[in-house]
Formats: sequence, structure tokens, C-alpha cells
Amino acid sequence: YPPERVRNFSIIAHVDHGKSTLADRLLELTGTIQKGHGQPQYLDKLQVERERGITVKAQTATMFYRHTTASLDSDAPRYLLNLIDTPGHVDFSYEVSRSLAACQGALLVVDAAQGVQAQTIANFYLAFESNLSIIPVINKIDQPTADPDNVKDQLKRLFDIDPSEALLTSAKTGKGLEQVLPAVIERIPSPPGKCDSPVRMLLLDSYYDEYKGVICHVAVVDGALRKGDKIASASTGRAYEVLDVGIMHPELTPTGVLYTGQVGYVISGMRSTKEARIGDTLHQAKSTVEPLPGFKPAKHMVFSGLYPADGSDFEALSHAIEKLTCNDASVSVTKETSNALGMGFRCGFLGLLHMDVFHQRLEQEYGAQVISTIPTVPYIFEYGDGSKVQVENPAALASNPGKRVVACWEPTVIATIIIPSEYVGPVIMLCSERRGEQLEYTFIDAQRALLKYRLPLKEIIVDFYNELKGITSGYATFDYEDSEYQQSDLVKMDILLNGQPVDAMATIVHNQKAQRVGRELVEKLKKFIESLSAMRKNVLAKCYGGDITRKKKLLEKQKEGKKRMKRVGSVDIPQEAFHELLKVS
Ligand code: GTP
Repeated sequence: YPPERVRNFSIIAHVDHGKSTLADRLLELTGTIQKGHGQPQYLDKLQVERERGITVKAQTATMFYRHTTASLDSDAPRYLLNLIDTPGHVDFSYEVSRSLAACQGALLVVDAAQGVQAQTIANFYLAFESNLSIIPVINKIDQPTADPDNVKDQLKRLFDIDPSEALLTSAKTGKGLEQVLPAVIERIPSPPGKCDSPVRMLLLDSYYDEYKGVICHVAVVDGALRKGDKIASASTGRAYEVLDVGIMHPELTPTGVLYTGQVGYVISGMRSTKEARIGDTLHQAKSTVEPLPGFKPAKHMVFSGLYPADGSDFEALSHAIEKLTCNDASVSVTKETSNALGMGFRCGFLGLLHMDVFHQRLEQEYGAQVISTIPTVPYIFEYGDGSKVQVENPAALASNPGKRVVACWEPTVIATIIIPSEYVGPVIMLCSERRGEQLEYTFIDAQRALLKYRLPLKEIIVDFYNELKGITSGYATFDYEDSEYQQSDLVKMDILLNGQPVDAMATIVHNQKAQRVGRELVEKLKKFIESLSAMRKNVLAKCYGGDITRKKKLLEKQKEGKKRMKRVGSVDIPQEAFHELLKVS
């Protein structure tokens, strides 16, 4: 397949607008997967993705398609199409921009009933800034409330997209799907690149497979890559031999070669994914090539301590974290020690959902029992002597530093919120309660308003989204992008248990909120500890007679429960307390 017969494209959409379903239909349409293969959403492979119905890790698949312009043209040329699936959630926009770097076009999927939502806007701009050809797809036209004309008006008003360009589809009934791949071929340019130059490719993703070792997903920009070739990494200089090369069709399918413009996989004897830096350029060994523009490195905006629920499990947790970060290089990990929780790790995440997903994967895929501390953001404190520190762990900030704090800064975000207009009042109240500053208030159609706010990141990482959904009956959609640091009146808050500070519960809060947050935290904590001792007393109360096995079982259960607790001072704190406490701070 010469580059003219290759198309690389992505599907971008607001969460739940039908991106994964559409991807499945396209894979079926081209015979890449069997119809009704039992597992819906082929590209959502991780267990958490299936459970939560969200895409976390972008996956890629290659399809072959015969493009017939006239109706029955058996000599019609075949095309090789690379579909790069992208996550829809805000936390993973890093993965989105990574996927877009290998594409020349994108299908912008919008739900015909819900219309343009917050992530539609964010994803549109990511694609637009990458100079991609954008094909608008108005999906779910089978729904009774579908209003494709209104969506066309929104696309025109917000993105200046000509209404005649929009494709109308239902990924559920199959209506309109036959227009999608012809539009991909006709409207998206083929990949640029020099066929007869030495090979140069972009490393899109990498993961570790127990049997095959490190598998890299690559986009070949120039030249061709063959089995047996010697390649080198532009960032480390290390050289490798290509042991296997092929396409994802949709499983790994060896082809022995990848040509200019193609997307596929390479196995080259790398020992660990640390050698496979995402965004790196791989090139023909011993040739000097210009590295491709890489990706922006992932920014860690939410930090939390992760500790084994049972102190003796430190090694197990350490092993699980190492394995998992092999496949999710966007998490940063450093060791830390807490006097309350023992040895553990401080991890940096792209956002709150990213943290939740990581936590859930640790438990589900590695059976790790984890206690996580209250999430925090990277603050900056400046002292009287001119020195500055970035604080990723509030406990590490000395309560009495001995030098005067002259200024504090916190990261902010620009949030976009789209809501039916009747909810504007409560949303404005919520945002100002969260210390937001209004930047924009417009209407995107007769019923929907768009609000833009600058908000401190800390205010949105804890329960903002749930509250927003709650006060708008689930209608609000929300997205944010990182913005600058702003100066703020921040204080460190310690929680004392029996007179002793619990370092794992230390937080940094805004001065004006310290009183209220502190009160709420302590009241919650008290309730937990009380209900816990009541439960402990009761454990055998329901056990009549002398059934010793039943008694044993209950005591076993209690022991299990105890494992998930931490003794601080002279008080046991249940793991759940840490989880629950995050919700008020
Ligand atoms: P994320 O992976 O979370 O970003 O979501 P997504 O955009 O991939 O959405 P997904 O494909 O998971 O679809 C969300 C829901 O919409 C699922 O329940 C689908 O069955 C449903 N759905 C998808 N396409 C259509 C459609 O054309 N019509 C109707 N009625 N429902 C659809």
C-alpha cells in the first residue's frame, strides 16, 4: 500500500456520544472483526474500561477497505485504513493529542440529541490545532429526541463547519454508516512522508507483554521498516534489531514490513517500557535523522499517597505499581514514608479519574489492597529568604517551618461548562463558592448556555463534577484545560488524633475555608471511628448456639477488616475513612 492508499484517522467525541460503538461498526463493516462477536466495543480492552464504559487507553486497528465510487466496480482500489481510538475524558486529553499526532483526519462524533458538549469543544480544538481534516458525524439519529438540524447549527456557529459536510448516522441501527469510510478516503489526505528516505517513525505507545516483551506502536513517517532492520532511539541512542513487525488487524498480525505512512507494531527486544519513550523518534541505526516533534510530556496535576492496607504488603504493592506503570507511563511514582501509614508511594496523575482508574486497576488486576491519601495539587510556597518549594505532599510541608511564608501559588484551570439555560443560576453559585472567576457567558443555541470559568484546580479535583451533575439533573457537561498559577491565601491544615497529627491526613486549604473544612473532616472522622467500634462489638452478636465454624468465619471476616485499618496513636482508622474524607476537603 503506497501512502496514497493509506488513511490515518481518529474518532473524537464527548464521552458517550458513541465513539466506541461507531469504531466497532467500522471494524465489522470491513470484516476486521466478526459481527456480533459477543464482546461489544472491541477497542475498549481494559476491564475498567468495560466496567465504566469509558476508554482510557487509546488503541489502534488497521482495516482494509475497497473504495467503490461507481456502484459495482470490482477493480476498485483497496485502501488501508488505520483507526486510532481515543479516550473521551478530560483526564486523558494527553492520550488524545498523542493519537492525533499520527493522524491526518478525525471523525468528530456528536450525539444528535445532546448536541455539542464540553469535550466536543476541547477535542475539536485539539484536532484543529493539529491541522487535521475534520469530518463531522452526527450520531444516534435513531433517538426520538434527535435534532440533527440543531446540531448542524451549533457546528456552524461554534466551529464554522459547513452544515452540508455533516454525515448523519446511527451506530446502533447502522443507518448512514455506509457514507463514513468513503468520506474518510475522499476528505482526509494521505500521510505525507518520503518513501525512499531512511526509516523514521514516531513511537505512539508501548506496553509490556509477558511472552513477547515490549511492544511498540509506531507511525512510520518516512521510509520502510523491515524485519531484521537495525533501528535506534533518537532520545537514548540505543540500537535494536527489529524482531517482528506488523499491523494491528485488530490483533498483532505480522507483515514483515511497514511502509511510509503506515501505523503498526514493532518488537525489538527492548527490556522495559522505560526504553520505549512515548513521543520518541525511532530511526535507521547509524543514520543521522532529525527527530520528529515529540509530544508534550504528561503534566501531573493530582498527587496522592498510595500505601499497602497491610504494612507487610509493601513489596507486593511495589511490584504491582511497577508492573502497572509499565503500561501507563503517565503516572509518576516516588517512594515516601508516613508515620501513620508506613512505607508507600507518592504518585502523580493527570487528573482525578486517572487516579481512580489507576487505583482500581491495582486492586483488580494485581489484587493489591491500597489506602490512598487525600489528593492534592502541586502548590508553590515562597519563603522570606526568596526560596521556593513545590509541595506535592502537604505532610512534607513543615507545620512550623522556622521561616516566614511570603506567598503561595496554586494551579488553576479554565473550565468550560455547557448547561441547559435554566441551570445557569445554580452553576454560577457553585463556581463562585469554589472560588471561580467568570470569563465567559454565552448561548450556543436557544436552550443551552456556555460558561467559562477560571477555577483553582484543587476546587475541581474533589467532588466538583458530581456536585455539578447533581445540581443540573445530570445535564451539565464539563471540561477543563490547565492554566497558569495564581497567588492564593493558603494554609496547611493538620488533623490531630489523640493529640497526634496524622500526617496522611494533612491538607492545604484556602484560609477562608479552613474552619469549615476542618470541622467537616473531624466530624466525619469521628463518625467513622464510632461506627467502627460499634461494629466490632456486634460481630458475634448474631451468632447463636455453638456453631464454631460460623463463629470462625465471622472472626476471619473481622480480621480481614482489620487488615484494612491503620493504627494511629491509639486509634484504628478504617481504610474507608480515608476514601470518605477526600470528599469534604
Ligand atoms: P467513551 O468511550 O466513554 O468515550 O464513550 P463512547 O463515545 O465510546 O460511547 P459508546 O460507544 O460507549 O456509546 C455510549 C452509549 O451510546 C452506549 O450505550 C451505546 O450503545 C449507545 N449508542 C452508541 N451509538 C448509538 C446510536 O447510534 N444510537 C443509539 N440510540 N445509541 C447509541
